[in-house]
Amino acid sequence: MIITIDGPAAAGKGTLAKRLAEKYKLAYFDTGMVYRAVGCDLMNNGFSVDDAAAAAAAAQNMTFGKMMSLANHPDFRSAIGGQAASKVAAMPKVRQALLKMQQDFAKNPVASDGTKVAGVVYDGRDTGTVVCPDADIKLFITASPEVRAMRRHKEYLQKGLPSSYDDVLAQTKERDQRDSSRSSAPLRPADDAIIIDTSDMDIDQVFNSVCKIIDQR
Ligand code: DC
Repeated sequence: MIITIDGPAAAGKGTLAKRLAEKYKLAYFDTGMVYRAVGCDLMNNGFSVDDAAAAAAAAQNMTFGKMMSLANHPDFRSAIGGQAASKVAAMPKVRQALLKMQQDFAKNPVASDGTKVAGVVYDGRDTGTVVCPDADIKLFITASPEVRAMRRHKEYLQKGLPSSYDDVLAQTKERDQRDSSRSSAPLRPADDAIIIDTSDMDIDQVFNSVCKIIDQR
């Protein structure tokens, strides 16, 4: 069973995907990590995140293990790491180099506790359109930029990171614009995706409505 969850930043995809993976005993792949890893690799080695040749080389040398170790980089989950990921994700050679690694994960999926499982919940921007076009269930989770920026702002504050709502809103809109207008795999729902706007829903409401859809299938 492959479930894909795509949508813009801070729409609630990650929380939903993790809860679904737990309930249905599936592995979880946060595909934003592959782009964050390339961004952090560039920053570690003194390259600009706008350097397309260095980014392509970093993507070609990326492995699952290297990505997991780069996840400890202090900027991996920060706004700087998110902007870097969004920039390298707009480079076609980077996307091409990272595609097989994402697809291969479904061949032998393991849950976070190391047990073998029968499928994957993918979370990202193009998982229903490019990574797994044959997925069993495709969801596109969205919310207004203001709601998403407020969620991200609160998340940063809870983690003790400095944050200003206005800055987070501006960054959210900038990333939306870059993710949706890039030529390679732009952010868009797959033709057969179920679109859910979570602006006026809490996570339990989103989770319960998605479980109903999965159970019906
Ligand atoms: O989901 P995230 O915030 O970790 O994603 C970081 C960036 O990576 C995001 O701005 C766009 C990019 N991304 C992508 O282009 N395709 C994916 N499948 C996942 C993320």
